Amino acid sequence: NNKAIWNSRIKEDASILFQKVGNSIDIDKKLFKEDILGSIVHVEMLFRQKIISFKIKNKIIYGLNKIEKEILKNKFEYNKKYEDIHMNIEKRLFQIIGEDAGYIHTARSRNDQVITDFKMWTSSATKEIIKNLNDIIKTILKVSEKNIETIMPGFTHLKNAQAVSFAHYLMAYVEMFNRDKNRFLYNIKSLSECPLGAAALTGTSFNIDRNFTAKKLGFEKPTNNSIDTVADRDFVLDFLYSVSVCSMHISRIAEELIIWNSDGFNLITLSDKVVTGSSIMPQKKNPDLLEYLRGKTGTTYGNLFSMLTILKGLPISYFKDLQDDKEILFKSNEILNNCISILNEVLKNLRPNKQQMLNLANSGYITATDLADYLVKNHSMPFRKAYQITAMIVNFAEKKNKKLNELSAEELKKIEPKLTTEVLKVFNVKNSVNSKKSYGGTSFDNIKKMIMKYKKDIK
Ligand code: ARG
Repeated sequence: NNKAIWNSRIKEDASILFQKVGNSIDIDKKLFKEDILGSIVHVEMLFRQKIISFKIKNKIIYGLNKIEKEILKNKFEYNKKYEDIHMNIEKRLFQIIGEDAGYIHTARSRNDQVITDFKMWTSSATKEIIKNLNDIIKTILKVSEKNIETIMPGFTHLKNAQAVSFAHYLMAYVEMFNRDKNRFLYNIKSLSECPLGAAALTGTSFNIDRNFTAKKLGFEKPTNNSIDTVADRDFVLDFLYSVSVCSMHISRIAEELIIWNSDGFNLITLSDKVVTGSSIMPQKKNPDLLEYLRGKTGTTYGNLFSMLTILKGLPISYFKDLQDDKEILFKSNEILNNCISILNEVLKNLRPNKQQMLNLANSGYITATDLADYLVKNHSMPFRKAYQITAMIVNFAEKKNKKLNELSAEELKKIEPKLTTEVLKVFNVKNSVNSKKSYGGTSFDNIKKMIMKYKKDIK
């Protein structure tokens, strides 16, 4: 019989239009593994609690295993008429084992069933993202190791600020991804309570053992309140927020690389694998994939706001509005994993244009702060006074159309008589980078230590 489960009460088929929009099978069929596992553990518990017989439990488990094989072999026929993955599986179970299939839904509702499946799926997806984040961190550590002494300008306001190691920039990305990782790890905690047994919204009069099902399904404990259980989608929000932050990080990195790759800067060269040509301009190698990364962030924010908006004003317990949660989360998950892989590919193959980096680092009076620091340390004056003298020297260099490292000791002495030839070393950008030895600064040693630390952490 191909009737809906509730055909004894609802006499007419759903309108064609509702059949079309009301089903979710194309989306939630992703949950088949979790659904089957959840059902197997559920009937095992029903048997242990003497709610169903040994024979029926085994029959149901046999049928469910058979269904799983059919799905894995692409032999399962999904029917939109049965709305979702839960009903599709239950209907098929009836075909395989007959009327005894009807015992499976004892002490259970789709409301607790779906959210159990979905939490398990989200937990696996979260672990997968953490794995991908580890992969990209490893890539960045490798590229960093090769570029500890690659000097480039550090920018503020996109104007040359102070010289840094290219690896120091890259290691900043490691910090960002490491925070993302911790955010996702934290989410696993918020996924640790098992919804199964909340039933429709009240719990059940059957003597079920929620601790057993919770443990068997990999949760720490059952949820505390049956109404909250079927209403709660906070874990979806946590996931979507974490995805949004991570893709925001990816977008900032992408934008930075786009700028560095532009002809004006020319600090890096992207591999041919990640650029595209133009249909009219033969010379072009455009950073399309980086732009894709920047653009996709918009969709992840949109998804977070869709879910927040669906939940706003929705009374607690279950409502159909909630069904959209899965499509939204699945999409954000897919986008993020794609974006992490793409960025990984970009970073693996990216080449720093070391000479151009150094040239640019030597322009824009980038060692001015080093000179001011030198005056404070060697000629004991307050920083503000040193700042003024340095500004005068920069003005002088600008007027002479010289870089700071092109000024002679004599020229410098004219502005500040205390200066000796020793001062000239501060205009060397490599010295400048290596002098930033404060914790977290860009000195070579600091970077090496940080790389070592993360290499250890990640194993
Ligand atoms: N497919 C539904 C969903 O994803 C399952 C829960 C249905 N419950 C209900 N009372 N209609 O939300």
